[in-house]
Amino acid sequence: MKKTHRSQEWFGRADKSGFISRSWMKNQGYPNDIFDGRPVIGICNTWSDLTPCNAHLRDLAERVKYGVLEAGGVPFEFPAMSLGEALMKPTTMLYRNLASMDVEESIRANPIDGVVLLVNCDKTTPSCLMGAASVDIPTIAVSGGAMLNGKYKGRDIGSGTDLWKFSEELRSGIISQDEFDAIENSMSRSNGACNTMGTASSMACMVEALGMTLPNGATIPAVDAERRRIAQLAGRRIVGMVKEDLRISHILTREALENAIMCNAAIGGSTNFILHLQAIAGRLGIPLDLTQFDKLSADIPLMANLKPSGDFLMEDFHYAGGLGALITNLQNILHKQVIQANGKTLQENYASFPTYNDNVISTFERPFQTNSGTAVLKGSLAPSGAIIKTSAASPELLSVKQKCYVFENIEQYNQQINAPDLPVDQDTILVLKDAGVKGYPGMPEVGNFGLPKKLLQQGVRDMVRISDGRMSGTAFGTIVLHVSPESADGGPLAHVQTGDVIEMDVAERKLNLCISDEELTKRKESWAPPSPKATRGYAKLYINTVQPSHLGGDLDFLVGGSGSEIKREPH
Ligand code: FES
Ligand code: MG
Repeated sequence: MKKTHRSQEWFGRADKSGFISRSWMKNQGYPNDIFDGRPVIGICNTWSDLTPCNAHLRDLAERVKYGVLEAGGVPFEFPAMSLGEALMKPTTMLYRNLASMDVEESIRANPIDGVVLLVNCDKTTPSCLMGAASVDIPTIAVSGGAMLNGKYKGRDIGSGTDLWKFSEELRSGIISQDEFDAIENSMSRSNGACNTMGTASSMACMVEALGMTLPNGATIPAVDAERRRIAQLAGRRIVGMVKEDLRISHILTREALENAIMCNAAIGGSTNFILHLQAIAGRLGIPLDLTQFDKLSADIPLMANLKPSGDFLMEDFHYAGGLGALITNLQNILHKQVIQANGKTLQENYASFPTYNDNVISTFERPFQTNSGTAVLKGSLAPSGAIIKTSAASPELLSVKQKCYVFENIEQYNQQINAPDLPVDQDTILVLKDAGVKGYPGMPEVGNFGLPKKLLQQGVRDMVRISDGRMSGTAFGTIVLHVSPESADGGPLAHVQTGDVIEMDVAERKLNLCISDEELTKRKESWAPPSPKATRGYAKLYINTVQPSHLGGDLDFLVGGSGSEIKREPH
């Protein structure tokens, strides 16, 4: 018996409403039988010229359309708010939730039976998944893939990771401005996302590890013909998913979320992964506590030798076997029976992707590092938690008890950091306040703030840095992030003063501000909250309703879903 699809509530009616739905669409030249009850597939495209990492997604959308048509569906492409890391101020994170609202409402309000999410740059992936999860129709994701390796003077250079290095070398006088300018032309050589294991690649691996894509698609370079092929296959597959009613909630189970956490640890993935997966889980009604990330990743070794934790880039990862090979090597510790977008289990999908280069992808038993995960620290400085990516940190700095130097905000940091008489040495712990979700607002990627110029010139390359901000997934260093509660909310971070002693012990998961309770109380009493950073518009809504970073930073009223049904007619 033929199932009636959701889109027939628009197109399948003989009345005035049906006339309107069909007639206006026919101005695009569609024949009558397009509306005969076949699956209608939305292609949610985050293409934008202003999001360079997604600039090629229109081409991929065409390939998705071929696939949809081949499988007997009808494709309609629609735009979603695009979030480009490289340009948007004060940070794309401020707009992730706004974009998710756009995606959610666009899917629900339209005659769509299934949706293909075309995503790439960091926030476009979680925003689309969050929005789709709150509607819960059959959904598949297609990532845009990473750029080719950067090439400079015969060397491979990676997006972000090498920029942070070159920028510090410029500040310390090791390279000239001319050289810095020349590198600018060498880093981004093709369409695609950052080619390091930054947030975009971590998100591409996340959607695959969740089972939301076709197998071994995450790591295909953006400009490889294989990328178009998998887009076309995804177009075919979504039609099948609609016929099977394989909805996003059937794929994104707790087990699938746990698989993604373990995979993110094994690839040395971005710290931003935590905020995004928590927000996605929230839309599905699956509680995901910060400490579960630590617990689930604690015994996962680093199995991908990729910048910023290792040596290679995404192109190398794919040629070495790709995420498919890594999951094949990791699968014994994953939940193998989860159903994935192609309707098969993880075990069936990842039985045998081979590894071609064990300098890039390791086995579980002989990893690049035994411990890879993001550690969750707690203590009097971060009662609700803070995180540190141990694979990208300096091992000798993971247990310290030192005096700190405090920057009250990013403006003060910018004013002071190059001062030759800044009263810090390489053992000082640097603290930056006012970089949290409410504070900046939007929790920008300033947590990997650069070192004092005078210490760079002395050859210092890493110091303990602590903030309530995020860092780019491409960044490295001994960097404590996401301190919660944040300083703008009056968390203990707000009350830290220069000269205080901070104790961090990553092995013991500790982060303490070593002052007496009386002193802390006194400081709290004399503290006044900063004036709000916005008085109108979306930023005001965001500040008033954003959840703290340790819960994922979604807006409180967006948690959960509203399903796909809309009962009332527009006319
Ligand atoms: Fe878009 Fe890095 S800036 S992926
Ligand atoms: Mg990034």
